[in-house]
Parts: sequence; structure tokens; C-alpha cells
Amino acid sequence: MPSSRHLIGELESANLLGRGGAAFPVGRKWRAVAERASGRAVVLANGAEGEPLSLKDRTLMATRPHLVIDGALLAAEAVGAPDIIIYVGAKHRAAEAAIRGALAERSNQLRSRVRMMSAPDGYVAGEESAAVHFINAGDARPTTTPPRPFERGVDGRPTLVQNVESLAMAAQIARGIDANTGLVTVSGAVRKPGLQEIDLGWTFSDVAAAAGGLARPVQAVLLGGYFGAWAPVDEVWALPIAAPSLRARGFTLGCGVVHALSEDACGVDATARIMAYLASQSARQCGPCLFGLHAIGECVRRLAARSPQASDLDRLSRWSGQLAGRGACKHPDGAAGLLGSALSVFADDFAAHQQRRCLRRSTSHPASLQPVAAVA
Ligand SMILES: Cc1cc2nc3c(=O)[nH]c(=O)nc-3n(C[C@H](O)[C@H](O)[C@H](O)COP(=O)(O)O)c2cc1C
Ligand code: SF4
Repeated sequence: MPSSRHLIGELESANLLGRGGAAFPVGRKWRAVAERASGRAVVLANGAEGEPLSLKDRTLMATRPHLVIDGALLAAEAVGAPDIIIYVGAKHRAAEAAIRGALAERSNQLRSRVRMMSAPDGYVAGEESAAVHFINAGDARPTTTPPRPFERGVDGRPTLVQNVESLAMAAQIARGIDANTGLVTVSGAVRKPGLQEIDLGWTFSDVAAAAGGLARPVQAVLLGGYFGAWAPVDEVWALPIAAPSLRARGFTLGCGVVHALSEDACGVDATARIMAYLASQSARQCGPCLFGLHAIGECVRRLAARSPQASDLDRLSRWSGQLAGRGACKHPDGAAGLLGSALSVFADDFAAHQQRRCLRRSTSHPASLQPVAAVA
């Protein structure tokens, strides 16, 4: 096992990227916290997993709780953290039970103080400053930045917020296992929706094959979940799924979500449902997020129902470029990105809906956008 300082170097050379959404380099984050912590940092293992199409974090915690705890302990040692908080979505009961059980099993051997906290429901509760604010003040509301959690987080101490899969991968790297695998939740028009452990060299067609193959012809893929982007299937089918290759094409795998939309399903309808959800999840403290997302949600809803107002499509195109950077957190940015991709990938469908027509056979396919069966 490498020393904690050496481990930071190993994470950097392995180019381990965060698995919670933003794909930020893990080693660089550990180094930044270690440099300012003076032995008083906090490690916050993020297992909130509010993304409706993801179940990787809850499954990982439920099935490999010791690996997550090992990663958190290694992180604590490397950054100088006497305290670890494992932040688990309150709905993820099996995960909570497994983490609690694993902590009890090794309570005499833990080198840091480790406690588990239930994350409240909601998409935004897993955002890092919301998680910190919840722990500090009981309210999972993102706070304006700076300071970021790595500067001043839990109890005002430098806080390393790291997704639980990222921590598990760090533990694997410490054991000499390479970081070239990842967890992906596959849903939609595949034969066997669910969690897949994939090799990052795989293409999307490999991922679909691992999920039993396509159940129906597919027109588009939602990458990265509700915070991600729609991509035409032809554009990504042969593309390697690793973050750098996706980023070069303007895509991200986010928290590892791949959702296949069948050709007979309506992209306007699917997008309307996502936007309605994202609007409902605004933490309601920034005007552009609260009012902007609501107005967009209503606009897409009218279009999906084929009862639009005269300028709904023009309005959507204008608004999709105006939301990013207008909130305290990246919630509106994620929503704007998703909407922008939908307007481009489903351009013909949106134009038809503005004319009160739908080009698809089914506007609400039963498999479309249903969260995949969860373990808890
Ligand atoms: C609205 C929103 C929700 C988020 N939800 C989660 C979440 O549930 N779990 C998670 O690990 N990261 C979530 N994130 C990302 C975190 O802010 C943070 O970047 C991440 O936990 C860092 O871990 P990583 O670098 O290992 O990915 C969310 C971000 C945003 C903007
Ligand atoms: S941008 Fe939206 S979700 Fe983020 S803090 Fe502001 S109101 Fe809340």
C-alpha cells in the first residue's frame, strides 16, 4: 500500500476523474485540500445520488461498503482529516444499512472518526455546497461561492467532497488495480436495463451489448442523466465512453447514466418530463432558477401536449442560452444544457409540435425515462 502522499501522486498519474458528475481530477482535489488543511480537514463521501436514472452509488454502498469506507479512510489520511462523514440518500435504505453494518464491524480499527448522515430527498441535496450546508445548518441549500467546500466547508474546515464511487476507485488504485473501469446505469430501450461495470475503453455499442442489446431501434441517447445531454445515436455509437473522448465531442457521462430513447418515443415528451422534474427541484432561492426553470418547464409541457402558444419554440431557443451561470449552483446550467441538446437533437420534433403534430408513433413509451429498478 503506498504512503498517503505517494497515493495522491498515484491518483494523479492514473488520471482518476470524479464519478459524481463533473469528472474533476481526484488527485488534484486531494492535493488542494491537503495543502490547506493542516490536519483539520473533513472528508465528505457523497452518496446522496439524487439523479433519477442512476443507481450506481446506492448499489456500490449496498454491495461493497468496505471498499467505500477504505477509500474514505485513505482520503482522510492523505488530506489530513480526523473526521469522515458518509452522506447517504435517505431513500437508499440497503446502502445505509450496509454502511452502518460495515462501520460497526470495524469500529475498533478506524483511524478517523466516521459517521453516517442521511441526505434529504431532492436533486440538489447532493450538490457539494448543499451537502455542506445541510451538515452545518440542517438545510440542504446550495450556498453562494466562494468559498468552496475545499476552502471552508463542514464546521468551517477544508472539506474534501468526493463521490463514493470515486473513493472506491481510489481504494482500488491503492491496491494496484487500474482505474480503467466504471459503473454505468443503463436504461430505456435495452433488453436488460440496470447497472453495468464497464471498461472505459468500451464504446456505446459495447455498453448496449452488455445491457442485453437494444430492445428496439434507438434514435438518441441521454448521456449523464437529467443534467446531461441528448446525443443522436449515430454520433456516439462507436465512441469510447471514457471522459476525455466524450469531452472532445462536447459530451459528458456525468454520474454514469446512459438512457436509450427508442425511435418511436417522442423526444419532446421525454424532455418535457425531465424539465418538469428539474423545475420542481429548484432550491427556490435564485430568481433565474426558480422562475426561469418554471417558465421553461411550462413551455415544453405545452409543446409536448401539442397545445403551444404561438412563440413557444422561439422562446425556448432564446431561454436555453440565458440560464447558465445565473444561479448560486449549477442546477440551471445543467437544465439549460439538457434543453439546448434537446432543441438540437429533436429539432424536427419540436418544429412539428409547434405545429400541433407529433412525428412519433408513441408519445409516452412505457420504458421511456422510467428510473431503472433500484436495489433500495
Ligand atoms: C444539482 C447537483 C446535484 C448533485 N448531486 C450529486 C450527487 O447526488 N452525488 C454526487 O456525488 N455528486 C453530486 N453532484 C456533484 C457534487 O457537487 C460534487 O461535484 C461531487 O460530489 C464531487 O465528487 P467527485 O469529484 O468524486 O465527482 C451534484 C451537483 C449538482 C450541481
Ligand atoms: S441555482 Fe437553483 S438550485 Fe441552485 S441554489 Fe439557486 S435556486 Fe437553488
